[in-house]
Amino acid sequence: MCEDWIADFSDHIRKRFPSLENRIDDHKIAYLDGPGGYQVPERVLDAMRDYLKKSNANRHGRFKTSEETDALILEARRIFADFFNCSPEEVVFGANMTTMNFMLAQALRNKIKDGDKILITQLDHEGNRAPWEDLEDEGAVVEEIEIDREELTIDMEDFRDKLSEETKLLALTHASNAVGTIPEVGKMVDKAHSVGAYTVIDAVHYAAHFPIDVEDLETDFLLSSAYKYFGPHVGVMYAKEKVLDELNTLKVKPQKDSPPDKFETGTLNHEGIAGAIEAVRFIAEVGKEYSSLVDVESERSKRRKDIATGLNIFEKYERILTDKLVEGLSQIPEINLYRPPSHVRCTSTVSFTHELYSAEEIASYLGDRGIFVWDGDFYATRLVKVLGLQEKGGLVRVGVSPYNTLEEIERTIEALSDHGSMKEELD
Ligand SMILES: Cc1ncc(COP(=O)(O)O)c(C=O)c1O
Repeated sequence: MCEDWIADFSDHIRKRFPSLENRIDDHKIAYLDGPGGYQVPERVLDAMRDYLKKSNANRHGRFKTSEETDALILEARRIFADFFNCSPEEVVFGANMTTMNFMLAQALRNKIKDGDKILITQLDHEGNRAPWEDLEDEGAVVEEIEIDREELTIDMEDFRDKLSEETKLLALTHASNAVGTIPEVGKMVDKAHSVGAYTVIDAVHYAAHFPIDVEDLETDFLLSSAYKYFGPHVGVMYAKEKVLDELNTLKVKPQKDSPPDKFETGTLNHEGIAGAIEAVRFIAEVGKEYSSLVDVESERSKRRKDIATGLNIFEKYERILTDKLVEGLSQIPEINLYRPPSHVRCTSTVSFTHELYSAEEIASYLGDRGIFVWDGDFYATRLVKVLGLQEKGGLVRVGVSPYNTLEEIERTIEALSDHGSMKEELD
């Protein structure tokens, strides 16, 4: 019964992704590189093409294509307002998460005084560390919250010890892109606000797997990148309106001085935004089609409910594949899994090392078989160093996405269990 559901769902989803037809040599490609960037449904490609073909123009003109572009951006803010659970004026578009976060740090510069404390974490991607470390030039003291090495997540005791009245900002990941763990973000934001600190959440990895709710989190800022959840390369940020309103952003004089426009320097990536909203519509469409599979409490709008349902269905499906993957990898004696204990929430991202071969060797070996996985530190450089894996080439990372199949998971486990081929090719 369970298997019936999986097969139907998988077929239905996969049909919508043209890149899944690609082959390398004689192999079908297993795209297990999702945490590095998702494959894209046909409707996203169509939306980008249609925009450039039919509505391509700059904004604020007095002619049809420009008006259509204005309408597109307006609609995009509404759709992402449902995605984040915020108001449309709190949705900001940009190049990518890293660039937007550097811009945010620049905008917060004059709110940070000599001796103010900024808390970053060992779990975070460099994109949510480097922009804040740069503020040391302003006299800020940047401190790092450590991880609990057993649980592969934030050490909450260390967080409580380091948070103080001097803390002016907390930069924290919603989920680790290297090991998948999900820290207690809501609790940490609450505590940071209780001492008057700003909070910046990196939801780039989390956004593909679970619904985001900024109203519940009450964070000041939250950043995502549409290419990690079925879209093109566009950054999308939530910025609390009254907080962004007070910041001095990098802008040209004629640019509007109110949120969200004050953060959107230069011309936006209109075709990218057209693709990004189509990615969210795709998630909502799946939510609508498979609503009987999961229970989602009533939400602020039908679209938000569909988005949350779609993401919950994806997660349900990914969980089945991930359990199979973890079970299979656990049977291979040379593999050391970097997976948190079961009581710690995590995504479908599974990382490991191999006792005989480096992460690079394993990724190349799998890549030659049409199994695409990542190796290295994925810019979670600090985490990989703290885990003592930097000299060994980091981790092998297998990301399970909704368009992957049980057969691909089996193929991966088989390839990694094939000691003969590994020895022949890698020794
Ligand atoms: C958790 C996380 N944060 C930030 C980034 C950087 O995102 P972008 O490529 O949009 O700058 C990534 C990209 O891999 C990521 O996985």
